[in-house]
Amino acid sequence: MSTNRADHRRVSVADLGRAELAGRRVFVRVDFNVPLDPDGIADDTRIRAALPTVRHLVKNSARVILASHLGRPKGKVVAELSLAPVARRLGELVGRPVITVGDCVGPRVEAAVEALKPGDILLLENLRFHPGEEAGDEGFAQALARLADIYVNDAFGAAHRAHASTAVMARFVERAVAGLLMKAELENLGRLLDDPARPFVTVLGGAKVSDKLGVIRHLLERVDTLILGGGMANTFLLAQGRAMGDSLVEPDLVKEALAVLGEAETLGKELLLPVDLVVARDFSADAERRVEGRPEVTDGWRAMDIGPRSAERFGDIIRRAGSVFWNGPVGVFEFEPFMAGTEAVARAVADCPGMTVVGGGDSAAALARLGLADRVTHLSTGGGASLEFMEGRTLPGVACLERAADVREGARQTEES
Ligand code: 3PG
Repeated sequence: MSTNRADHRRVSVADLGRAELAGRRVFVRVDFNVPLDPDGIADDTRIRAALPTVRHLVKNSARVILASHLGRPKGKVVAELSLAPVARRLGELVGRPVITVGDCVGPRVEAAVEALKPGDILLLENLRFHPGEEAGDEGFAQALARLADIYVNDAFGAAHRAHASTAVMARFVERAVAGLLMKAELENLGRLLDDPARPFVTVLGGAKVSDKLGVIRHLLERVDTLILGGGMANTFLLAQGRAMGDSLVEPDLVKEALAVLGEAETLGKELLLPVDLVVARDFSADAERRVEGRPEVTDGWRAMDIGPRSAERFGDIIRRAGSVFWNGPVGVFEFEPFMAGTEAVARAVADCPGMTVVGGGDSAAALARLGLADRVTHLSTGGGASLEFMEGRTLPGVACLERAADVREGARQTEES
C-alpha cells in the first residue's frame, strides 16, 4: 500500500511560520527541469509552480536555498544545462535578485549560504552535475544537508526519483516537510484515488501501452469509465482482431491488452476505444489523410488521430463526469491536421464542471496551445511522477518526508514519556 496519501497532510511548509522560519537556512528541492529552446526557457510553468513556497519563505524571513536538476548531464558539468537562465527568470517572477554560486556543494557554496540575509534567495547550480545526485549517494546528500536547517521537498515532478536531494538528504536535517506545490499535487491526485466524485472518467493517450499498463491496471478498479486513445489504443484494437495497417502497435502486449479488456468486463467498467480513426499515408503533417468510419486501418495507412464520432462520444462523457483524470494526447497533436481529437478532449475537460486533473507534458502543452490551461482544477507538474502516483506506487520523494515525520513524532513521544 502506498504511503503517498495517508500521511502527507501531517505537515507542510504552510504549517511553519515566522517562529520556525525567520533567519533559518531553508533548502527547497524544486523541479526546475524546464524545456529549453535556443532563446532560453521555452515554458516556465514549473518555475511559476514553485512561487507559492518561495513567497511563503521570503515573507517569513527564511534564508532560501533552492536546488534542482536540469536535463540529464550524467554527473558532468554541461554548460548548456546551467540553471543560470532559470535564476534570471525566477528573479523576474519574484521581483528580487536570485543569487547564484556556480555549484551546489563545497566551501564556496557554504560561504554563500552563510552570507544570505533573511529573505534572500539563492539558486544552487544543477545538482546532476555531480554523479552523487542520481546515485542517491549519502555523502553527497550530507554535503547538501550541511547547507540547511530545514528541508522542503517541493519537487513533485522528481518525487519518483530516489536521488540524493529528493529522497536521501531529508534524514540529515533538523526538519523535513513538503512544499506547497507538493502538497497540492498529492491532495489533488490523491483525491482521485481515494474519493473521486462520480462518475470518474480517466482518459489515457500517448504512444505506447507499455508506458501506461501499470496505471491502467490500478485505475480500472477505481474509474467508472476508462477512455483509451492515441497510439496505445491501437494495440487494444489489434487485440480485438482489428487490422491496424502500418499503425504503431505493440504486438508483444496484445495478451496484456486482452487481459485488461477481460478485467474491465468482469469489473463491470466501461472501457472505450475509438470507433473511428483519422489515418494517413505516412507520419508527417502534410501526409495524405482520410477518415476511416470503423476502427480499422488498411495496409499502407496508419492511425494518426481518433475520428470525429469518437471525439464527440468521448467529449460527451467527459463533460458529464464528476471527476476526470487525463494523461496523454489521443492523436499526433503536434501536427495540426491530426490535433482535432486531442482538441476535443481538451475542450471537454475544460468544460467539465467536475474536478479535472491533467498530467503529463503533452496534455499540458495541448491545453496551453488552446489557451485552456487555467480551465482545469489541477494541472500536474509531474509527468512520470503523476503516472507512478496514479499507479499506486510509493514515491521516494514523499516516503522520505513520511519517515522524517515519523522520526520526529517518535522523538516527541520519547521526550514526553
Ligand atoms: C521530469 O521532467 O519528469 C522530472 O524533472 C524528472 O526528470 P528525469 O526524468 O530526467 O528524472
